[in-house]
Amino acid sequence: MSLQLAVVMPTFNERKNLRSLVERLDKALTGIVWEAIFVDDNSPDGTADEARALSLTDPRVRVIERIGRRGLSSAAIEGMCATAAPVVAVMDADHQHDPNLLPGMLAAIESGHYDVAYASRFAEGASTEEWGRPDRVKASGVANAIARKVTGVDLSDPMSGYFMLRAQTLRADAHRLSGVGFKILLDILATVDTPLRVKEFPMNFAARAEGESKLDRTVVFEFLIGLYDKWLGRIIPTRFALFGTVGALGVVVQFAALWFLLSAVFGERFVYGHWSSDETTFNIANTIAALVAMTFNFVLNNELTYADKRLRGPKELLRGWFQFGLTCSLGLLTNIGATAALKRMHVHDVLAVLVGIVLAAVWNFALSSKFVWGK
Ligand code: GDD
Ligand code: MN
Repeated sequence: MSLQLAVVMPTFNERKNLRSLVERLDKALTGIVWEAIFVDDNSPDGTADEARALSLTDPRVRVIERIGRRGLSSAAIEGMCATAAPVVAVMDADHQHDPNLLPGMLAAIESGHYDVAYASRFAEGASTEEWGRPDRVKASGVANAIARKVTGVDLSDPMSGYFMLRAQTLRADAHRLSGVGFKILLDILATVDTPLRVKEFPMNFAARAEGESKLDRTVVFEFLIGLYDKWLGRIIPTRFALFGTVGALGVVVQFAALWFLLSAVFGERFVYGHWSSDETTFNIANTIAALVAMTFNFVLNNELTYADKRLRGPKELLRGWFQFGLTCSLGLLTNIGATAALKRMHVHDVLAVLVGIVLAAVWNFALSSKFVWGK
């Protein structure tokens, strides 16, 4: 019998869940030739070591360990591309997804009647009661509804992280997937040119076994990322578009903070288009406002632009904030320097300023991606 199915499971800090998960797969998949592929992003808790230990005694278990990379979507894509199995599934490694659905999904794909089988938390007969997170159920519902509108993909749960398809279907389009964020199924369905025939399997979305979720707050932003992907994704990289949007919001925040500081804190008045403050007061207020905007940008980028690589804990956050500040300072020099140089070459003022801003944005983005959220 040849290999039928690869079950790809992205992992980040799931060490304690792996052994029992492989046992459950073994039980659920009797009579099927399968392999499991754990794609681990060098988890600090030693998940990859545990996976390799399992692999030593059960060669159906395979491990891909990625160093210096983070991200659920890209991990899933790499895992799916790393197998010879004709059918691939993606499943969470924290026991929230029931492996007993796999045989039915496989039968649907192998029948030739369907291109994609996926497990839905919101289909008729599904339940999210055991999840124990009414807040997430609500947020997911809203994000799903918007995602449906934006992409035209009409499923009850396009954000589901549990699905199966022919490896060939994925390979044909893998190079066009963005690999950003958590919504990989949606990504696949919205990217392919010919519509896919999808079969839904209602699932009981269980509570996570060990450890904690990595994307708690992200769901709220998932639809926004999906929207950008769909509308801008082919022109500019989605992450850069998000970074730029956050930057533009930062400008608004700086103006608001400056206004607030001068009027409410320093008691100055705004008359005939000028502040009544002296130069020093203004500069102090503007410095604080710039720091507020920078911090705002850092937090929002951490939550949204780099949600899949989010920094957490006081130490990581402080280091990230500092590095982001440094990156932006250098970006500011680029910005001002480029504009000054262009002006000397008699380029129109507005154009010179715009070029400065775009250059600084590219610079900030490149450096942040590499140094602040690179690990
Ligand atoms: N390799 C890798 N890298 N794996 C990751 C990363 C990462 O950066 N982040 C999370 N994972 C793994 C986790 O270890 C887990 O196996 C799986 O991806 C899902 O992550 P969770 O952190 O448990 O996500 P969740 O349960 O909150 O979110 C679920 O619902 C989302 C929609 O609301 C998942 O099913 C998602 O796939 C789904 O999009
Ligand atoms: Mn989970």
